[in-house]
Amino acid sequence: MKIIDVQNISKTYKTEHGPLKVLDDVSFAVPKNSWTMLIGASGSGKTTLLQMLGALDKPDNGKIFFDGKDLGNAGTFAASKIRRNGVGFVFQSFNLLPELNALENVMLPGLFQRGGKSVKQRALELLEMVNMSQRATHKPTELSGGEQQRIAIARSLINNPDVILADEPTGNLDPKTSEVIIKLFKDLNEEKNKTIVMVTHDLSLKQHASDVIQLDKGRIVKRA
Ligand SMILES: Nc1ncnc2c1ncn2[C@@H]1O[C@H](COP(=O)(O)OP(=O)(O)O)[C@@H](O)[C@H]1O
Ligand SMILES: [Mg+2]
Repeated sequence: MKIIDVQNISKTYKTEHGPLKVLDDVSFAVPKNSWTMLIGASGSGKTTLLQMLGALDKPDNGKIFFDGKDLGNAGTFAASKIRRNGVGFVFQSFNLLPELNALENVMLPGLFQRGGKSVKQRALELLEMVNMSQRATHKPTELSGGEQQRIAIARSLINNPDVILADEPTGNLDPKTSEVIIKLFKDLNEEKNKTIVMVTHDLSLKQHASDVIQLDKGRIVKRA
């Protein structure tokens, strides 16, 4: 079963120096419950690709199917639904809002949803899961990098997505802290059945991957 199916996508950015082709006829599938790692040199198109998987951007050519639905272009109903409920994003730089405390940051993407358990209740449970309950009322500046990333992971889960898209989530963390974060992803993958697509520079993380996709200048050069 595949949850994401990428078919022959290409992307060219218009720049001051002319067109820049960053994805060139890329095709692959992300199996449900897999942990797919995207690797490749800086500038090879990893972030661009991840944004397309989460319907934040759209390819010039080709198609992306998410759970069987054609994302078509990023403005469609299907695409906005995927952005809201289908995926959770985790970034290298955490991207927490500095004015909000940990609990409020986790709640924020859930405030646009209705029904079900209260958003606050879910956010508190997620803070518990990432072992950050004791910091619920702290602002991001009062937290270490690893703590901020745990909050960001909790936030990515507030709308209970099937897929987590993580762009170098350990890129700003020391090795010990990275291990804690990777352990969290491992539990999400194995125990909560989340599908994970993770961009990383850390090749030692390949041991956790069920699939590895290597990009070079916008083309897939290797997969395992
Ligand atoms: N919005 C943009 N406009 C123009 N060029 C961009 C834009 N985003 C990324 N690029 C360029 O596209 C290439 C691929 O970028 P990116 O997908 O961020 O690669 P990676 O994440 O693998 O480092 C880089 O050369 C980058 O400078
Ligand atoms: Mg990148």
